[in-house]
Amino acid sequence: MFDFLRRSRYRGYIDTLSDGFVSGWAHDGGRPRERLSIEIYAGGILVGVVRADSFRSDLAVAGIGDGKFAFSFALPAEVGDGGTIAARVAKTEYWLANSNRYGTANSPRPGRGGSIPPNWARALTDDRAFREEQAMLGHCWTLLGITPDLEKDGDWFRATLGGRSIFVQRFGDTIKGFENRCAHRFFPLRTSDKGNGPIVCGFHHWHYNRDGHAVGIPNCLEVFGTHPREVGARLVALDIATCGSLIFGRFPGGNTSDSLEDYLGEGFPILDAMCAMPGRPQRLNGEIAANWKLPMEITLDDYHGVAIHHRKRHAKNNEIAYFRFGMHSAHFTGHNDTLASMSVACRENRYVPSDYRIFNIFPNLAVSISNARPYWFCHVQLFAPTSPRQTHHLGWLFQTGFPARERALDRWMRPLSDVIRAHLVRHFTKKIVEEDRRACEQMQTIAHQFEGSPILGAQEKRIEWFEEAYEVAMSRGEAISDTRR
Ligand code: FES
Ligand SMILES: [Fe+2]
Repeated sequence: MFDFLRRSRYRGYIDTLSDGFVSGWAHDGGRPRERLSIEIYAGGILVGVVRADSFRSDLAVAGIGDGKFAFSFALPAEVGDGGTIAARVAKTEYWLANSNRYGTANSPRPGRGGSIPPNWARALTDDRAFREEQAMLGHCWTLLGITPDLEKDGDWFRATLGGRSIFVQRFGDTIKGFENRCAHRFFPLRTSDKGNGPIVCGFHHWHYNRDGHAVGIPNCLEVFGTHPREVGARLVALDIATCGSLIFGRFPGGNTSDSLEDYLGEGFPILDAMCAMPGRPQRLNGEIAANWKLPMEITLDDYHGVAIHHRKRHAKNNEIAYFRFGMHSAHFTGHNDTLASMSVACRENRYVPSDYRIFNIFPNLAVSISNARPYWFCHVQLFAPTSPRQTHHLGWLFQTGFPARERALDRWMRPLSDVIRAHLVRHFTKKIVEEDRRACEQMQTIAHQFEGSPILGAQEKRIEWFEEAYEVAMSRGEAISDTRR
């Protein structure tokens, strides 16, 4: 079974770190009388094991068994300043809350390591951990594709969600999504990336309707002794919703039932306005020989511009504003607006862009706007995981409908300048994407050596938020399962 599921029965916290002692408590809800052994890590290195069996009256009052679940551990003298302290239930993947939030005794350094657990990179190299991770992420609303690819009735495209092949198809006014797996003997229903036509399995020609029910089964009475309706076979249906031209999907369940609008929160009206594609966008697709988290995290990192993109100078903290909303975050350059004011203006259809913005939607979507004088372009990037070490990078690039400071000359020149501008935007976007890709691929070559937590500075704050959202998604307690029947 999944490690991630097992660990959800534990609860535990690091409560204090002072005078060289780390103290907290831990309890196993699955075996409520058992006392747990807790491994203590300093700077990602195991420095000792302590039993959580001391009495604390507040635990007893809170109804946590007999209250004998507390621990206090004396850190070894050689643990230096500035590292991070973490604790986990021995021999499990359950890290106590507040792990890594502290520096060592008497020298807390906020921002160093954040709250990222030392095992954050496990799924970057471990196939099983990757499969488990993807099975949990399949319940998060995830970008699958765009509506311009489903223009005509019957148009479909194939994508991946939760580590599984799926397809999305237009039926008249509605868009539906299904796991790409025949209910009969699991043949893939869609064997190419896109197409148009009814759902007919290539193996024995079972025919499915728009609700995913097998309504046509060849020779059904002869071989199954009954009618298709009695066979009752159906496809696994996904939840599907759109925002602007973006089509999101998720596997139902996973202890979440929020709508896409709830999930995106203040980001919904923004993406809705930004990602209303005027037609077919330019595509910038490619492969990245690195785990999906690395290209996602590089879009959350404002510290690498000088080294990787050869910028002239480092940004100042006060030039950037960060916003966190739900599991997502945004970076605004300039201080003309806030996430809230932009959200309201987009909802009321009166937003006028003034500067660069990027929105990182958990788990694997980054959407930015930038100025290509005088117009505003949007770049949508999806980091679709294919294996622990490989990511399919899908990019869509298009001119937004946001108002531009257009002069008469600009308008007059547009037939020509639009072509040149689109070409230039593509050229510069591609250059940045390539530079980021190279950096991620270099990181992946030693990803098996990523032990312990990274040291994060102020301009990497959003990576910490992303990893916190990841932990939440991993601990929700339900992986995708077979919901066929
Ligand atoms: S596997 Fe699809 S019809 Fe048999
Ligand atoms: Fe970059």
